[in-house]
Amino acid sequence: MKNIILVAGATGNLGKQICKQLINCGAGVRAVVRAQSDPAKTKALQDIGVDVKVIDFNKPTDLLSACEDVSCIVSALAGLRDVIVTTQSQLLSAALQVGVPRFIPSDFCTDYTQLPEGVNRNFDLRKEFETLINDSKIKATSIFNGAFAYVLQYGIPLFDTRNKTIAYYEGKKDWKIDFTTVNDTAAYTAAAALDDSTPRHLHIASFQISAQDLADLSKSLYGEAFKLTDDGSLEQFLAVINKQRQANPEGEAELYPRWQQMQYLYSMFAVHHPHLDNARYLSLSWTSASDALQQKQA
Ligand SMILES: NC(=O)c1ccc[n+]([C@@H]2O[C@H](COP(=O)([O-])OP(=O)(O)OC[C@H]3O[C@@H](n4cnc5c(N)ncnc54)[C@H](OP(=O)(O)O)[C@@H]3O)[C@@H](O)[C@H]2O)c1
Repeated sequence: MKNIILVAGATGNLGKQICKQLINCGAGVRAVVRAQSDPAKTKALQDIGVDVKVIDFNKPTDLLSACEDVSCIVSALAGLRDVIVTTQSQLLSAALQVGVPRFIPSDFCTDYTQLPEGVNRNFDLRKEFETLINDSKIKATSIFNGAFAYVLQYGIPLFDTRNKTIAYYEGKKDWKIDFTTVNDTAAYTAAAALDDSTPRHLHIASFQISAQDLADLSKSLYGEAFKLTDDGSLEQFLAVINKQRQANPEGEAELYPRWQQMQYLYSMFAVHHPHLDNARYLSLSWTSASDALQQKQA
C-alpha cells in the first residue's frame, strides 16, 4: 500500500519542494490548500501528481476527511500564532481523531529547545506548539535545519556583500553556524516523512560555516576577503534588538520584521548543532557553501 503523506503549506517555498521530493520517492501526496491560495501554485502541484484538497482550515470536517489514510502529516505552514499555534493545533486535533500516527511540525529552524523563551518571537510560537504536540499521542519529529542558506544572499550583517563585511558576536569568529538549502531540507523532510522510526528531533545542515570561513570564502568568490567585524557581546546585541522591538510595535503583526531578523542572527550565534543527522539517509547529498552562495533564487 502506498504511503499517503499530507502536506500543509504545499503552495509555499519549502512545501512545494517537499511535495516534489515525496512524489520522486513514489509516495502518495495529498495537499491541503486554502480557497484563496494562488491557483497557479495549486495547478503546479496537481501537474506533478499531488492530490490537492481545497479546504477551510477552520472546518473540522474538512480536516478530518483530509487526514483519512494518512501515515504522516508534514506542515510547512508559515505564519504567526494564528498559523503556527492555531492552525497547526486544528490539524493536530483532526490527526488525533482520525489516528494519523506521525506529524512533522513546521519548525525548520535552529534548535529552539536550546534557547530560552523571549529571545526569538518566531521560535517561541514553535515552543508553544511543541508543548501541545508533546502532550498528545502523536509521534512528532522536528527537523532543525539552522537557517535557510539563501539568507546569506540577503546582505545580512553576517555576510554583507554591499559593505564587504562579516559581523560576528561574542568574539565567536570561529563559531560554526548551521545553514541548509531549501532543496536539501525538502529532500531530508521527504525521507523523514517516509521513515516510521524517526526520533523526536533531527538536526541537519548543508554546511556549517563560521564568520572566518565566510571571510575565506568571500576571497575565492569575490576576489577580496570581506572585513571581519567584532560587533560586541550577545548581551549588547540582545539589548539593541529589544530596543528596536519596543520602537517598532507594528512588527508584532509582521512575520519577519527587522527586529525578528536580528533575533534570528542572535540565535545563530547562541545555538548550533554539535551533532548532525545528515547521514541518516545515505542517498541524499548536501550543497556546499560555495554552491549555495552562487545559487540563483527563484
Ligand atoms: N530557517 C530559516 O532560515 C527559514 C527561513 C524561511 C522560512 N522558514 C520556515 O520554513 C517553513 C516554511 O516557510 P516558507 O518560507 O516555505 O513559507 P511560504 O513560502 O511563505 O509559504 C507559507 C505556506 O503557508 C500557507 N499558509 C499561510 N497562512 C496560512 C493559513 N492561515 N492557513 C493555511 N495555510 C496558510 C501558505 O498558503 P497560501 O499559498 O494559501 O498563502 C503557504 O502554503 C516555516 O516554518 C518557516 O518559518 C525557515
